[in-house]
Amino acid sequence: MRVALGVTGGIAAYKAAELVRLLQDRGLEVQVVMTRSARQFVTPLTFAALSGRKVISEMFGEPGGEANVESAIEHVAVAQSIDALVIAPATADVLGKIAHGLADDFLTTLVLATRAPLIVAPAMNVHMWQNPATQANVEALRQRGVRIVEPDEGYLACGMTGAGRLASVPAIAAAVFAALGLRDDLKGETVLVSAGPTHEPLDDVRYLGNRSSGKMGYALAEAARRRGAQVVLVSGPTHLPEPSGVTIERVRTAEEMADAMLRRLEAASIVVMAAAVADFRPAEKTPGKIKRQAGLAALKLVPTRDILAEIARRRRPDQLLVGFAAETDHVLENAAAKLKAKHLDLLVVNDVTQEGAGFDSDTNIVTLLAATGETKPLEKMSKLDVAQRVLDEVVALRKVRASKHLTSPAGPPGPS
Ligand SMILES: Cc1cc2nc3c(=O)[nH]c(=O)nc-3n(C[C@H](O)[C@H](O)[C@H](O)COP(=O)(O)O)c2cc1C
Repeated sequence: MRVALGVTGGIAAYKAAELVRLLQDRGLEVQVVMTRSARQFVTPLTFAALSGRKVISEMFGEPGGEANVESAIEHVAVAQSIDALVIAPATADVLGKIAHGLADDFLTTLVLATRAPLIVAPAMNVHMWQNPATQANVEALRQRGVRIVEPDEGYLACGMTGAGRLASVPAIAAAVFAALGLRDDLKGETVLVSAGPTHEPLDDVRYLGNRSSGKMGYALAEAARRRGAQVVLVSGPTHLPEPSGVTIERVRTAEEMADAMLRRLEAASIVVMAAAVADFRPAEKTPGKIKRQAGLAALKLVPTRDILAEIARRRRPDQLLVGFAAETDHVLENAAAKLKAKHLDLLVVNDVTQEGAGFDSDTNIVTLLAATGETKPLEKMSKLDVAQRVLDEVVALRKVRASKHLTSPAGPPGPS
């Protein structure tokens, strides 16, 4: 999801830097747009460094340079690509302009051009705030559905005391999350997710792998982040862009994945094993490259570590454990057996032979099996939507567990 952050020319402009961080922490991409006055207070460099992208300020390209088509249509491109526009701090001047539909710079033009929800956090001297003109402008915006994050009362930079201080940055971030429909029902949780395939080396250039793309695990990491969790993603080799706001540890083999997951287990409150870990690896890794002429009559394989079983044995009773199963036959039967054998709280099972399910697909068709006995078949949907449904189930299981004070739903886990 992408948010544009408009920064205008007030003393509180520096606080917008912290807002960039809070928005990014929830996995949002942030495009900063500054007015000319804002640049008197904070340099665009600060925001460019924090957001990792160029700050937009001028309507017609940089001053002194020639206007080009790219910069002239940029406001339309940004307007169409964002999911929300937040202006923080918003000056009395910008409130007046947007209340009256003026569009004489990039930010105010963007306000008119976008259909994304608009969130405005005013900040100014108390007399400016109380001025009937400002109040009428704020009221007009509110009537039009603009979300106003009211300023706080307190000591103001001008030396006066009263209403006009920029609302707290977390309160502004919360208004943005609410406008985007982001829930925070995983706030306070640390979610450990494994994703992708593992590569088991045969020699220095070849490996045994599988068709997992990592898309399902990455979608889970992103969805959990959006819902307020701290997320650690242990990823096998993938070609996917790294989800923002997530701690990522890259591994290659099943052994490395097992080490990483077990090392990070203690800090996690929810563990989701979405990786397609190899069940077997070559018994030996040959140094260098096995030559064609030397031949390879047979390949001796040995089982890899069963990460899920190890986690199931070592987990604390308060930790929730979610597993994935890719099946090709007797799908529900096999899944129910795995749920029980591995003492899982939830198993997400997919029949990888179905069209639109499983490896490398952008969609998935899964059934959720809970240790409470519930079975929920889901229709075909995007992997991000599947991730949300899995997390809905996790949140529901948490509530059931809390209300029953259960220590474990499925057997005798705990250190062994
Ligand atoms: C030192 C200083 C601090 C200012 N602080 C504020 C402020 O907090 N809020 C505000 O509405 N205007 C403030 N102003 C006035 C705005 O900078 C001015 O109205 C400007 O035209 C706003 O431009 P913009 O809305 O395009 O960013 C301040 C001006 C100065 C010189």
